Amino acid sequence: MTTSGGNEVSGGSRGSGGKSASGGNPGPVGNPVGGADSGLRRRVIGGAAVTALGGLLFGYDTGVVSGALLFLRTSFGGLSNFEQELVTSLLLVGAIAGALVAGRLSDRIGRKPTILITAVVFVLGVLLAAFTPSYPVLLIARLVIGLAVGSSSMVVPLYIGEIAPPRLRGGLVSLNQLAITLGILVSYLIDYGLSSSGNWRLMFGLAAVPAVALFAGILTQRESPYWLIERGRDDEARGVLARLRPPGHVDQEIAEIRAVIGQGRAGLRELLGRAVKPALMVGVLMAVFQQVTGINTVIYYAPSLLHDAGLGASSALLANVGIGAVNVLMTIVAIRLLDRTGRRPLLIGGSIGMAVGMIAAALAFVGSTHLTGARAILAIAALVVYTGSFAIGLGPVFWLLISEIYPQRVRGTAMSVASMANWLANFVVTISFLTLLSAIGGTGVFGLFAFLTLAAIWFFVRRVPETKGRSLQAIEADLRGSGLSPSAGEQPSREQPPGEQPHGPVGHAA
Ligand code: BGC
Repeated sequence: MTTSGGNEVSGGSRGSGGKSASGGNPGPVGNPVGGADSGLRRRVIGGAAVTALGGLLFGYDTGVVSGALLFLRTSFGGLSNFEQELVTSLLLVGAIAGALVAGRLSDRIGRKPTILITAVVFVLGVLLAAFTPSYPVLLIARLVIGLAVGSSSMVVPLYIGEIAPPRLRGGLVSLNQLAITLGILVSYLIDYGLSSSGNWRLMFGLAAVPAVALFAGILTQRESPYWLIERGRDDEARGVLARLRPPGHVDQEIAEIRAVIGQGRAGLRELLGRAVKPALMVGVLMAVFQQVTGINTVIYYAPSLLHDAGLGASSALLANVGIGAVNVLMTIVAIRLLDRTGRRPLLIGGSIGMAVGMIAAALAFVGSTHLTGARAILAIAALVVYTGSFAIGLGPVFWLLISEIYPQRVRGTAMSVASMANWLANFVVTISFLTLLSAIGGTGVFGLFAFLTLAAIWFFVRRVPETKGRSLQAIEADLRGSGLSPSAGEQPSREQPPGEQPHGPVGHAA
C-alpha cells in the first residue's frame, strides 16, 4: 500500500518488483529501480542491507545478555537479582538517550556521520564489556552500548527510508526488523556455542565484528539525498540520486523532496494539538503495550528462567535458540502477510496467541517453581507460542504503524516520542522482572502479562485503525475520534500530493 508519505509498507514490493500488493500508487517517481536496471537495484538493496547491520547489532546486543547472565551472575563474587537486572536494563537507559541524541545529531551533521559515530560507539562499548575489570565498568559498558542501540533504532530506518525508492521502501524498512530478530538469534547461537566454556566476555565481544562491518560498510555509502537537499547541497544530492535512480527520475525527485522540505518542520505544540494527539496516543500506547506484555522478559531472561526451573544450562540455551528461530521465521511470515491480510488481523490474532502463551506459562508454574517433565515442556511450548505470536503481530506491526499513522509534518518527532516510550517501558519491565518473579512467582508474573495482553487486545480492537490500502485522511479522521472505524474496510489509496512522495517512513528526527 501507499502510506501518508508515499512509502509502501512491508511486503508490497517483494518478489514481483512490480505493483504493490494492495494497489498503492507509486506516483511519478515510483518504481524507478523496480526492474530495468539491476545495478541500481543492487545498489539500493546493498545500501539498505549494510545499514541494517545496525539492526543486527540492536538485536545482538539486546539478546546476548540472556545467555551471558547464566555465567556472569557467578562472576565478580556473585551478582544479586538486582545487579543482574541492572546489567540487562542499563542498556535500555542508554537507548532512551541514544534515540533522542541520534535524532538531533542526524539532523545536524547528517545521517552518514551519525551512523559512523554509532558504529564507533558500538565497538567501544562491546570491547569495554568484553575486557571489563569490574562490575561497575561493565555497567558503564552496557550504558555505552545502549547509546548505540538507541541511536541505531532511530537512524537506521530513517536512512533506509530516505535512500529507498517508494516501491521498495516497505520491504527495505522491514529488513531492519528482520535484522533485529536475526541479531537476537545469532546472539543465542553464540551463547549456546560458548556455553561449555562459559566465556561471557567473548559473548559480548563478538559484537565488535558486525560493528566494524557496519563502520566499513557505511563508509562506502553516500549521504541521504533528503538531508543534502535540506542543506542546499543539491548538486551532491543529484550525484547520490544518479547512483540510485534512473536518469529520468532524478530532477523530479529533487523537486519533490524540496516541496516536502518547503512545508517546514512541526514543533511539539503541533504534536499535542487536536489533529495529531489521538494518533500520538495510539503510537505511545502501542509502544507501551508492546513492552508491558512481556516480550523482553522472554528475549532477555528465558535461559535464566528455564535454568532456575531445573533445566541444565545448555538445554536452557538450546530452548532459547528455538525461541529465537521461531522469532525470525514468524517475522518473515508477517512481512509476507502484512499487505495481504492487513495489520489488524495479524495484530489482534497475534495478541490472542500471546495471551494463550502467557496463560499456559502461568499454568506451568502453578504449585511449583520447579519445572520437570510435562511442566518443562509446557513452559517451553508456552514461550514458543507466545514469541511466535508476538513476531507475527505486535512486534513488526508496532514499528510499521508508527511509520504510517502520522502526518508528514510531524512524523519524525512523533516517531521519536513513540520510540522513546518503547525503550522506557522496556526499561521498567526489564528492571523489575526478576524482583517481581521472586515476589509473586511465575504464575503471578505470567498471569499479570496475560492480563495486560487482554487489555492490549481490547485497546487494539477499539483504537488501532487498519492502515492497509487506506488514505492518510481516513486514518487521521479515525484517530481524531470522528467515527473511529478500525475495520471500515479498504479504500483506494489516495493520489500522492507530489510533495509527499519521496519522504521516507521516518521523516525527520525530532
Ligand atoms: C521490540 C524489541 C524486541 C524485539 C524482539 C521488537 O519489535 O521492539 O523490544 O526485543 O522486537 O524480536
